[in-house]
Amino acid sequence: MEQAATLSPATLTALIALVRKHTGIAMTERKSILLERRLQPRLRALSLHSYQDYLDVVERDGSEVPHFIDLVTTNDTLFFRTPQVWNYVAQQFLPQWWRQHHGQCLQIWSAAAASGEELYSIAMLCEQFQLGHPSFRYQILATDISGQILEQARAGVYGGRSVERLRVSHPAFVKKYFSAEGDSLRVLDALKKQVSFASHNLLLPLRPAQQFDLIFLRNVLIYFDAEHQHTVLHQARPSLKPNGRLILGESETISRLDTDYVFETPMIYYPSGAML
Ligand SMILES: C[S@@+](CC[C@H](N)C(=O)[O-])C[C@H]1O[C@@H](n2cnc3c(N)ncnc32)[C@H](O)[C@@H]1O
Repeated sequence: MEQAATLSPATLTALIALVRKHTGIAMTERKSILLERRLQPRLRALSLHSYQDYLDVVERDGSEVPHFIDLVTTNDTLFFRTPQVWNYVAQQFLPQWWRQHHGQCLQIWSAAAASGEELYSIAMLCEQFQLGHPSFRYQILATDISGQILEQARAGVYGGRSVERLRVSHPAFVKKYFSAEGDSLRVLDALKKQVSFASHNLLLPLRPAQQFDLIFLRNVLIYFDAEHQHTVLHQARPSLKPNGRLILGESETISRLDTDYVFETPMIYYPSGAML
């Protein structure tokens, strides 16, 4: 019988296919060590002796699929990751949006929210903007395919690297928008109440349908091949308002794909046909 510590080439190929089927993520055989490391504790928890047994469980038992998705997704994120984006949002996007949409509520979608650092970064900038524009309102939808990571985002409690860097980069925000919880920080309810959370696979249409002024689709396209990148962008397109903006990660480019988005400035796109 195959031992838990060894992943045979045939099982690896089948696991990679299963990852693609459930998440769209394209893995290569080079990810075998990563898959072993992530799945092994689950094999132990289920008293399974081989990866093939685990593969059979995922295929046979739908209730195991969410655990599988939690294990195979990569959820790295940070507060205010890629400062250029946040400068754009604070200095360009928000003032311009407010001039054109006075009195409306800004709708934002953090579409691969992971543990929530991105969406709370947005919320903090919106709260700051509100100080100078008291009638400004905003709402954030946070989605991810991993239910477990979304629970962490909902809890809004942060420690380790996330917090160390935030304390250095934005000490005033730490003081203003978090309460201390041991060595960790908890996001204040005032920010949380602007956010709703939902599980969503980006390969599918967003349900219920909704339109946003800003869509953050950052550092998730890198996990897909060109076909699935195209699908994700196509599925997100109806969710972007006619003069909204799509924000990608710094190592993501969509110029070689045939899409309905137009490049504005690095990482920032608007929908084709927009009347800017
Ligand atoms: C690296 S994190 C990006 C977090 C954040 N957007 C950022 O840029 O810091 C990628 C996230 O994409 C999610 N993800 C992967 N495949 C997905 C899919 N098909 N649909 C929705 N989310 C997905 C993962 O669960 C993970 O939390």
